[in-house]
Amino acid sequence: MPAMQMKITVVSNKARTLEDLRQILEGSVAAATITYVERTGEALDLENADIGLPDLVLLDSPWQDRADMAAVEELSRRHPQSVILLLCPNRSSETLISAMRAGIREVLPSQASRKELVDAIERARKRIPVAVIDKPRGKILAFLSCKGGSGATFLATNLGYALAVAMGRKVLLVDLDLQYGDASFFMSSAKGVVSVAEVAMQVDHLDDRFLAASTIEVARNYSLLPAPEDAERAIEITPKHVENLLNVAVANYDFVIIDLERSIDAVSMKALDCADLIFPVLQALVPHVRDTQKVLRMFRILGYPDSKVRMVVNRSVKDSNLPTAKIESTLGVGIYRFVPNDFANVSASVNQGISILKLAPDCPVSQVLKEMAGDLTGAAKEQESWFGKLFRGERSGLPLN
Ligand SMILES: Nc1ncnc2c1ncn2[C@@H]1O[C@H](COP(=O)(O)OP(=O)(O)O)[C@@H](O)[C@H]1O
Ligand SMILES: [Mg+2]
Repeated sequence: MPAMQMKITVVSNKARTLEDLRQILEGSVAAATITYVERTGEALDLENADIGLPDLVLLDSPWQDRADMAAVEELSRRHPQSVILLLCPNRSSETLISAMRAGIREVLPSQASRKELVDAIERARKRIPVAVIDKPRGKILAFLSCKGGSGATFLATNLGYALAVAMGRKVLLVDLDLQYGDASFFMSSAKGVVSVAEVAMQVDHLDDRFLAASTIEVARNYSLLPAPEDAERAIEITPKHVENLLNVAVANYDFVIIDLERSIDAVSMKALDCADLIFPVLQALVPHVRDTQKVLRMFRILGYPDSKVRMVVNRSVKDSNLPTAKIESTLGVGIYRFVPNDFANVSASVNQGISILKLAPDCPVSQVLKEMAGDLTGAAKEQESWFGKLFRGERSGLPLN
């Protein structure tokens, strides 16, 4: 396996030391992008440096008698995932203990040899992939309207709210309906500073902090990346951009919910490929079922297994619906959930831009959304949960083990 590309930031107050370290490190450390930052005074602010999030910080401490602990503590608080190596002149046991307490992985002498430095960096590298692997990846849920106005955006945005607020998960909603996206209006009156288009195209800068800073926080634990106001912005987005954005997002959120436009193009296809689960939303009406057949045919061509698809029938009205058996036999897949029609509560929510779970937490629509959120959080905990089995065709609705 090739060595993981590592982002290293080297910090020192002295230009001379930085230059010496550059001489030592360039050519000695493979698979690394190294940035050299000259620090002025005591403050250590890597936030505004144009370097992204470092995997490893090599900090040359200029003080003889104290090892710069306040700055180090601040650094490890801000960059908990970064490994910090300290170069310091004084390596008393006192210094070592306070360094470890401050979150430093290793303390090296200021005059460390090339070999000592390179060995320490390679030891740190071994720790980094472990940390990345240990971190559970979030789940990507894609919502797709089988016919315009079926309620995909309403359900996507409100399921996000249920996962974030009722279940306490960290959720990001990405509005990938690039032309007509309106997801943010369902949850908030706040206007985003940037849209999904600007964020996705910042390939070199896109990391967890950049992403977090670009979102609108619509509720506790719940962020949203709005569609561009200006549809022209969207034209330049490529499938690669979307893949990169989703990779960063799933590493940092428990659930990434994508609201897609109705027509499937290269960009939305990439999002569907990346999704763990797809929720096509339809109403129990003949024209909707007809369009859903086309969507499912497309999924089969794209090679998506039925287990990836959760059919949702929205605006369901007992007695006037098409019979469930008829819909299921026509589509060849089971229905995952029926969401009742509730004009009063849904309209109030949509018109005010406030989640239905907040406005009417006990109404039947909110209940179904909470059930869905419960299924998803249970499924995220247990790989082989009843939920997983249930929707791989064993539809008894009971735990099977
Ligand atoms: N369960 C429901 N009951 C009543 N009205 C609903 C329900 N779900 C959605 N709607 C209405 O349908 C409209 C269209 O929903 P939207 O989510 O924008 O559809 P889509 O994204 O599929 O095009 C919403 O403005 C909302 O008023
Ligand atoms: Mg929509």
